[in-house]
Amino acid sequence: MVAQHAAWSSRFAFIMAAVGSAVGLGNVWKFPYMAGSGGGAAFVLVYLGCVLLVGVPILVAELMLGRRGGRDPVSTMATLGAQHSGSAAWGLVGGAGVVTALFVLSFYSVIAGWALAYVPKALLGGFAGADGAATQATFGALLGNPLALLGWHTAFMAMTVFVVAGGVRGGVERASTWLMPALFAMLLVLVGYGMVAGDFARGAAYLLQPDFSKIDGGVVLAAAGQAFFSLSIGLGTMLAYGSYLPAGVSIPRTSVVIALCDTACAVLAGLAVFPIVFAFGLDPSEGPGLVFVTLPVAFGQMPAGALFGAVFFALLVVAALTSAVSLLEPVVAWGTGRHGGSRGAWCLGVGTVAWALGFLTIFSFNLWAEVRPLGGERTVFDWIDYLTSSVMLPLGGVLLALFAGWLLPREVAAAEFGADDAALFRVWRFLVRVVAPLSVVGVLLDRLL
Ligand code: TRP
Repeated sequence: MVAQHAAWSSRFAFIMAAVGSAVGLGNVWKFPYMAGSGGGAAFVLVYLGCVLLVGVPILVAELMLGRRGGRDPVSTMATLGAQHSGSAAWGLVGGAGVVTALFVLSFYSVIAGWALAYVPKALLGGFAGADGAATQATFGALLGNPLALLGWHTAFMAMTVFVVAGGVRGGVERASTWLMPALFAMLLVLVGYGMVAGDFARGAAYLLQPDFSKIDGGVVLAAAGQAFFSLSIGLGTMLAYGSYLPAGVSIPRTSVVIALCDTACAVLAGLAVFPIVFAFGLDPSEGPGLVFVTLPVAFGQMPAGALFGAVFFALLVVAALTSAVSLLEPVVAWGTGRHGGSRGAWCLGVGTVAWALGFLTIFSFNLWAEVRPLGGERTVFDWIDYLTSSVMLPLGGVLLALFAGWLLPREVAAAEFGADDAALFRVWRFLVRVVAPLSVVGVLLDRLL
């Protein structure tokens, strides 16, 4: 049985959906603060290396296995496992992905809620004339109010459930065909603003001139985790999307397009944020609040900034929505595919679980701000983020790479890859068989032992 929905109507619709999944808070919210905490350009360089040598090959592997299996992530891996390795236990990789997706969605929705909260705030002139201290106070007030966070989180999760359940999916994807380029254009304008009003030279140097002494195991693992997170790989999103992928679409070409769009957005977001950081005396290693305290300074100073800021955060919410949809999708596909029942009921049930898990993130920024489980530096949110992005996604991704590289018969992989470029296929196969597994397992062991 093929999954219950229609395949993507066209190659273009599929690419838009996959780019929509990849581009989201990971680019605009997470990448700048991870780069800022990881020492700037050293992080960026390692990140780019991870995208190219590990991320794109695994993206290809995940789409390939998804299209080959044609079902929900768990059934796809169980079936392919039974077929090519004699063990349906590979379904566990899909199962681990389902659990990981729930946790990622739980905090993703809370952060998207911050962006949602900033739409009316910007529109009502909340940032007018603000400097760094003022935007920090505004953001601190939002974080300090668990009820407000809960309200915005609930609103965003409801939107996600509605889109996945309500069959307006196609509409959202069609709309984002315009809205995503609009977000991209907004980022360009913000970079332009940074050139005029920010300390662009310092911001760009911070992001692009690596100080190699800053690279250590921690930076490499963080950058690798960010590459998985940003490309939406390692938990089955792309397995689920691949299962709806029409046969004629070139997987390697699609993967390159996804990675290019995704990386361009992340770098632009960084170039928008850091000139403001340095011009207004903010801290590059501010952490998860970084974009929410820097960009409002720009909106507060530029002409028509109230409108511009509101539109920017609204577009960010849309970008987050197309990503959140892709986190809910594999879980719902697993539910309906494995256990039956209606799509709507599964969406509501899964959304409710992820919503409840979101409390852990909400409280991490107020009631539990001082709580450090297991000692050390990490809050509850930091642990969820670390265990999902830096541990589960890389592990899931590597297992998928190993499966596609070693167990999937060469001819099958070659047929899915598309026969037009034999040399490229050989490079891909070497990367998923050897380079990706060794490098990821290497950094994980280095950090965890
Ligand atoms: N890539 C998205 C972002 O950058 C988030 C996301 C969507 C994701 N689906 C995923 C992350 C699957 C990991 C796995 O905002």
